[in-house]
Amino acid sequence: MELIFSPIWAFALKLTLLLVVMSSLSDCYDPLDPNGNITVTFDTHKWTDDGYMARVTIQNYYQYRHVEKQGWKLGWTWAEDEVILSMSGAFATEQGNCSSFKFQTPPHSCLKNPVIVDLEPTAAPEIMTEDCCHGGILSAWAIIPSNSFSSFEIMVGNLKGNTYGNKPLNLTLMAPGPGYTCSPIEDTDPTVSLVIGGRRQIQVFRTWKSTCTYSTFLSNKVPVCCVSLSTFYNPTITTCPQCSCGCRAANPSTDSCIREGSSLSQLSSGKLDIVRCTDHMCPIRVHWHVKNNYMFHWRVKLTISNYNHAKNYSDWNILVQHPGFSQNTTTYSFNSTALPTVGFAGTFT
Ligand SMILES: *[C@@H]1O[C@H](CO)[C@@H](O)[C@H](O)[C@H]1NC(C)=O
Ligand SMILES: *[C@@H]1O[C@H](CO)[C@@H](O)[C@H](O)[C@H]1NC(C)=O
Ligand SMILES: *[C@@H]1O[C@H](CO)[C@@H](O)[C@H](O)[C@H]1NC(C)=O
Ligand SMILES: *[C@@H]1O[C@H](CO)[C@@H](O)[C@H](O)[C@H]1NC(C)=O
Ligand SMILES: *[C@@H]1O[C@H](CO)[C@@H](O)[C@H](O)[C@H]1NC(C)=O
Ligand SMILES: *[C@@H]1O[C@H](CO)[C@@H](O)[C@H](O)[C@H]1NC(C)=O
Repeated sequence: MELIFSPIWAFALKLTLLLVVMSSLSDCYDPLDPNGNITVTFDTHKWTDDGYMARVTIQNYYQYRHVEKQGWKLGWTWAEDEVILSMSGAFATEQGNCSSFKFQTPPHSCLKNPVIVDLEPTAAPEIMTEDCCHGGILSAWAIIPSNSFSSFEIMVGNLKGNTYGNKPLNLTLMAPGPGYTCSPIEDTDPTVSLVIGGRRQIQVFRTWKSTCTYSTFLSNKVPVCCVSLSTFYNPTITTCPQCSCGCRAANPSTDSCIREGSSLSQLSSGKLDIVRCTDHMCPIRVHWHVKNNYMFHWRVKLTISNYNHAKNYSDWNILVQHPGFSQNTTTYSFNSTALPTVGFAGTFT
């Protein structure tokens, strides 16, 4: 059947519930972002007596998968006896044993496997760098490109005469949880930038890169959300399937889920998930309700419900794929962008 529609989609979100869609919601849609990755770049721009200075940039190239609160954590293994003499724009979580260095200022980190985390935006100006300090949060590339990267500066020393140093090994990225696998760090063309109003091109001494990709399988054993459908003529076309996010005993003697009306004081802090007891046991439910279907348009109300008492989501996005998006589409209440990768996809932020 062929009908010429100019569908109008209405997206309204019920604000009585705390709303969310997290990155993992989009798990089923990963083919929509085939080139998505987080690229970590080490740009060496200066040699020192016994080492080098490098700018490390973490760029989120995922179209709709952001790095949320708690933020990224970057780790690697030094190939030899390198140490981080100083750092700005981020910090190593541990200093380690620097007792063999008799410098006036002890090194920032002497660990073989340093772990780096971002500074908060409120950090002291003298330890900040350009493009740093977002508390580890990176926006998705298609949503706020200007907030999708972060960088910090490291001064590496103790190369013991190996003038150029070796590439760090075994890069790891937590963003914020597990799920990312990073490729070995490799030499690439030096990063170039433009100065003097774009009339002169300058380049760093050398550039190393690693690409980290996300796997749902590594991060979640069970789905984190479910989808239900209804229409104006049938309120229950599909409900969220029972136990679609795994089964937990809804037993008051365990704290595997919280019954409605029970006091929240029993919530133990520090736990990652405190899910309300439901048939589906999902922390998040996405509900697609077809409100009406007229000759020239139809409207959908999308409701996203958070059943996780342990999380308040403030910066969320949802990815929707529907053949209707090849037609004219309007969203209400929220911003939306069409992903360039697939013709009929849309993300709603
Ligand atoms: C990472 O993403 C960027 C942007 O989509 C792409 O240009 C690059 O080829 C990707 N890298 C890899 C190794 O897939
Ligand atoms: C710290 O390192 C020095 C030199 O490498 C070593 O002699 C010392 O035992 C280490 N200290 C500790 C507490 O591990
Ligand atoms: C680190 O990387 C090296 C070579 O890339 C590999 O042989 C080694 O097993 C890795 N170590 C760990 C702890 O992953
Ligand atoms: C979520 O926000 C509400 C209201 O602002 C607050 O009372 C609650 O403590 C927050 N919960 C978490 C886990 O941050
Ligand atoms: C979409 O809307 C624009 C402007 O309102 C109109 O020019 C265009 O023809 C419409 N496209 C379709 C496929 O209806
Ligand atoms: C939505 O778009 C408007 C206008 O472009 C912008 O001012 C606003 O910050 C955006 N909101 C979000 C949540 O991205």
